[in-house]
Amino acid sequence: AINAQINAEHYSAFLYLSMSAQFADLGLAGGQQWMTTQYKEELVHAQVFFDYLIERGGRVKLEAIAKPAIKWASGKKMFEDALAHEQKVTALIHDMASLALELKDHATYQFLQWFIAEQVEEESTASDFLQKFVMAEEHAAGLYQLDKELATRVFASPSVYVW
Ligand code: FEO
Repeated sequence: AINAQINAEHYSAFLYLSMSAQFADLGLAGGQQWMTTQYKEELVHAQVFFDYLIERGGRVKLEAIAKPAIKWASGKKMFEDALAHEQKVTALIHDMASLALELKDHATYQFLQWFIAEQVEEESTASDFLQKFVMAEEHAAGLYQLDKELATRVFASPSVYVW
C-alpha cells in the first residue's frame, strides 16, 4: 500500500507540473508558480513515504507513473481537477489508515496522521482557489489580481520531512 502511495504522490507531482505548463500557456505566471510549488510539495510527500517504508524494513518498488492530462480550458477547470484529485488522494490515505488499524500497525497509523491533516488543507486550498476562479474568470482585472495572489506562494519543505 505504501508503494502504491509513492506512485500516487509522484503522479500528483506530474499532474501539477502539467498544470504549471498549462498556466504558462495561458500567460498566468502566478498560476505557473503556484503549481510548480505544488509539484515540489508532492515530490516531498513521495519521498516521505519512500523513507518511511525503508525505515520500516520494507522494499521500495517504483512503478511507471501514469501520463497526466496536458490541456485544460481554464484556471477554473484546473482547480476543479485539482480538488477532485485531492479528494481521491484523501480516500487513498484514509484507506491506508484503515488498513494499518486492521493490521494493528500502530506506527504506520500514527505516521499517516500528518497526511490525514495535510489532506484537509490540500482540499481546502484547492476549493478556495476554485471559488476564486469561478468569481474571477470572466473578469480580466479579477483574474489579474488572482494571478498575483497565486504568485506569492513559495516552496517551503513541509515540517514532516525531517531526516
Ligand atoms: Fe500529496 Fe496533494 O497530496
